[in-house]
Amino acid sequence: MDNTQKELINLTNLPLANLPEDTGAVFGAAESIKSMLMKYSCAIREVKTKLEVLSDEFSAQNQRNPIEFITSRVKTPKSIMQKLHRRGLPVTMESAQENLFDIAGVRVICSFVDDIYSVAGMLIDQDDVELVKTKDYIKNPKPNGYRSLHLIIRIPVFFSDGKRKMPVEVQIRTIAMDFWASLEHDLKYKKVVPNVEDVQRELKDCADTIADTDMRMMKLRDEIDRMKVEEEMKFTSDGSAGKHEDLAEGREGGGKEQYVVEI
Ligand code: GTP
Ligand code: MG
Repeated sequence: MDNTQKELINLTNLPLANLPEDTGAVFGAAESIKSMLMKYSCAIREVKTKLEVLSDEFSAQNQRNPIEFITSRVKTPKSIMQKLHRRGLPVTMESAQENLFDIAGVRVICSFVDDIYSVAGMLIDQDDVELVKTKDYIKNPKPNGYRSLHLIIRIPVFFSDGKRKMPVEVQIRTIAMDFWASLEHDLKYKKVVPNVEDVQRELKDCADTIADTDMRMMKLRDEIDRMKVEEEMKFTSDGSAGKHEDLAEGREGGGKEQYVVEI
């Protein structure tokens, strides 16, 4: 039995010592966990589809894509166990389903800070999306400098045996915030970091610089948008709208191809 199988079994509360003799239970338990995790991955698909629809509609209306890319993950059995254990909760499948809201995780990377709130608003306004909890680490950054908008939502998923409202953690952040979080996350897993305080201070400083840059980029975008509108009005008042449409096709932003990457 490999470690993953042991993890799976542990989560179902079967005594590990008896497992080698009880092969049926081993496979049964592994199947139950697989089936539980499959339900969370279906919930992820539903949320991703919603986000993609919103992104397409927003792109059509505004000529730009608010979502740069979307990633997702289902928590591993090991990570589920560790979190339950850390919180002093029973390490069982039932307990995981009742107490953990981040088994399904979707990360949405936006171009600009205001896109984060637009995407969040459009998602939680949907009838079938129930907002369970919001943590706004953009308005209230963590002391280490972490910024991101976190939503815990529940969405209905229709399975063969009926409808289940599945919890999904949605993290929404800008590309720059995501870049920072990846590096900071790596630091957490380093056992020994010499000058850890210096590194933390530097990271916090970078986070603040990134937040400032995000704001400046948003202002620049508004300025560029304003210039585009002025240019369009100028062409229209010249009576040369046709000519302008040709121009818009060729210029950046007008006929720019949009990519949505999914991992
Ligand atoms: P977890 O037990 O880690 O799930 O945290 P939580 O239940 O207290 O929720 P919180 O909203 O604070 O964090 C949820 C997730 O956001 C984490 O699992 C990380 O993916 C991410 N996150 C939160 N804080 C940080 C941080 O300081 N740095 C980085 N890199 N990621 C963070
Ligand atoms: Mg988590």
